[in-house]
Amino acid sequence: MRILFLTHSYNSLAQRLHIELAARGHEVSIEFDINDVVAEEAVALFEPQLVVAPFLKRAIPASIWQRLPCFVVHPGIVGDRGPSALDWAIQERQTQWGVTVLQAEAAMDAGPVWASRTFPMRAARKSSLYRNEVTEAAVAAVLEAVGHAERGGFVPRRVEPGQSGVHGRERALMRQGDRAIDWARDDTATVLAKLHAADGFPGVAAEFGGIGCWLYDGHADATLRARFADAMPGTPIARRLDALALATRDGAVWIGHARRRAADGAAPTFKLPFAQTLPELAAGLPELPVPALPWREAGTWQDIAYEEAGPAGEVGVLHFDFYNGAMSSVQCRRLREAFLAAAARPTRSIVLAGGADFWSNGIHLNAIEVADSPADASWDNIVAMDELCRAILECTSHLTLAAMQGNAGAGGVFLALAADRVLAREGIVLNPHYKGMGNLYGSEYWTYLLPARVGAEAAHAITQQRLPIGAAQAAAEGLVDAALPGSPAVFLEGVVAQAVAQAQGPQHGAALAAKRERRARDEAIKPLAAYRDEELARMRLNFYGFDPSYHVARYHFVHRVPHAWTPLHLAVHRRTMWRAQERLKTRDAA
Ligand code: COA
Repeated sequence: MRILFLTHSYNSLAQRLHIELAARGHEVSIEFDINDVVAEEAVALFEPQLVVAPFLKRAIPASIWQRLPCFVVHPGIVGDRGPSALDWAIQERQTQWGVTVLQAEAAMDAGPVWASRTFPMRAARKSSLYRNEVTEAAVAAVLEAVGHAERGGFVPRRVEPGQSGVHGRERALMRQGDRAIDWARDDTATVLAKLHAADGFPGVAAEFGGIGCWLYDGHADATLRARFADAMPGTPIARRLDALALATRDGAVWIGHARRRAADGAAPTFKLPFAQTLPELAAGLPELPVPALPWREAGTWQDIAYEEAGPAGEVGVLHFDFYNGAMSSVQCRRLREAFLAAAARPTRSIVLAGGADFWSNGIHLNAIEVADSPADASWDNIVAMDELCRAILECTSHLTLAAMQGNAGAGGVFLALAADRVLAREGIVLNPHYKGMGNLYGSEYWTYLLPARVGAEAAHAITQQRLPIGAAQAAAEGLVDAALPGSPAVFLEGVVAQAVAQAQGPQHGAALAAKRERRARDEAIKPLAAYRDEELARMRLNFYGFDPSYHVARYHFVHRVPHAWTPLHLAVHRRTMWRAQERLKTRDAA
């Protein structure tokens, strides 16, 4: 079918649906929902048979839904209506939730149902549920709905809240009043549910010493309360790195990130690590030490955590769960230290596990944006990232496996390719390109790693087309070694089991010898330093040259500036060449 996506942004769900529909032979083009006229123009140009709205913030114009079936993906169970579907479900701790694909009509979320799916809820951040359970349910429901539309004859079910068997209902927009934490009454689980329900956007509004902010990235802590028994709930008790722990009635919560309310007339603010957002609050707090190789501890928050697996501890597993997958210079350096310390252990292989939600999204654009010199901060960050990649590439004591549990973008993808074996979880989305960030050239040894895996031609196409790639396609093209099924936990368990089996097997020594030989051969042909110098020469121009595109794109990304148009690599219908081909097809058919 010819399907037009009308979407607020090309977010992870839109990307995944695009991948799945294209893989089934559908022709998909994308238009950002900017205004009615632009949407109408897209329909006139593309002449779709169907409109799919993966992520919309406003209604589809009547001129479109009256002409064409328009499928809206609603992150709620059948009968649920309103803009805060998932927020209510998390905050009210529903045990089961779902996704409904309904046909757009005049009333929001009230059209007939084409397909739906349910899933058990997890105590997790909204953004995590959205990228996992909601996305999987949405893919299944959209594919079913598109199947119905393709075959024809399907009559979608009209449902009304309150009808027998319909559990969803109309819900209002969740406001900050609904989200407010009552520190005296709310226990840790309630505080966490409120933080989780607001994560990503809009955060939970809070005030400390007269300074307003929004809180994100909450984690329960069961280890601190005894030490800070007298602390008033809601007050900060400790600092670990740039996260601050706040006392709760029955424990504590770590807050990793916050956004400070801008003073009148001041520049708009954005999300940053909590201690950087409110240095006044962080000052003087007891600081919990973090060793170079932090062993995994239960009941607390760690961004880097290490453990060993196998009967004799043959395999080191290094977790790095950085918020949103963004990796600042400091985080890159800490991760490198941790990797080197892991490589000094008497293990045989190292699994690089990333985080459950993201593997890595490359350099930390928010940390760069807030720096006095974003150009210098960009340079420092990419150098730190390169050093991390180099440590992995040059590790000859261990076999390394990248276990990509979650999505990865830009330099984050190439960080994974630095490992000897790269395994991706089915369902994740990879964006192995930089160009979308203001024509950034990129580093992380991508000019060495990507062509070696997929060939020069495919490497060129991947980086220039700027399209997301699903795990299955990545495995088929050789970008990764295999795509494996399961939830993040099941997938990781499987990869660790593989690593343990390999570390115990007779082939391990031979594999390590082959790796050393390959690296030495490649180094003789062209040293790693040469790849890096060439990449960094281009990056220097991106950061310090006359063309400010990267700085402009980063500003737009960090400040979430609304899109003014849809890039041509997504809006197929706006490409002159595509339109000319379509005209020829019509002429030939006539
Ligand atoms: N630095 C800082 N924040 C980042 C980030 C980065 N490199 N990559 C993603 N994020 C943040 C986003 O701002 C967003 O923040 P939110 O919590 O306020 O919503 C969150 O991570 C999720 O990102 P989003 O763009 O909504 O996710 P997505 O899954 O829809 O899209 C990408 C994934 C990778 C396409 C997109 O995040 C992206 O383009 N990231 C930038 C990659 C990049 O250019 N890195 C620098 C070069 S190495």
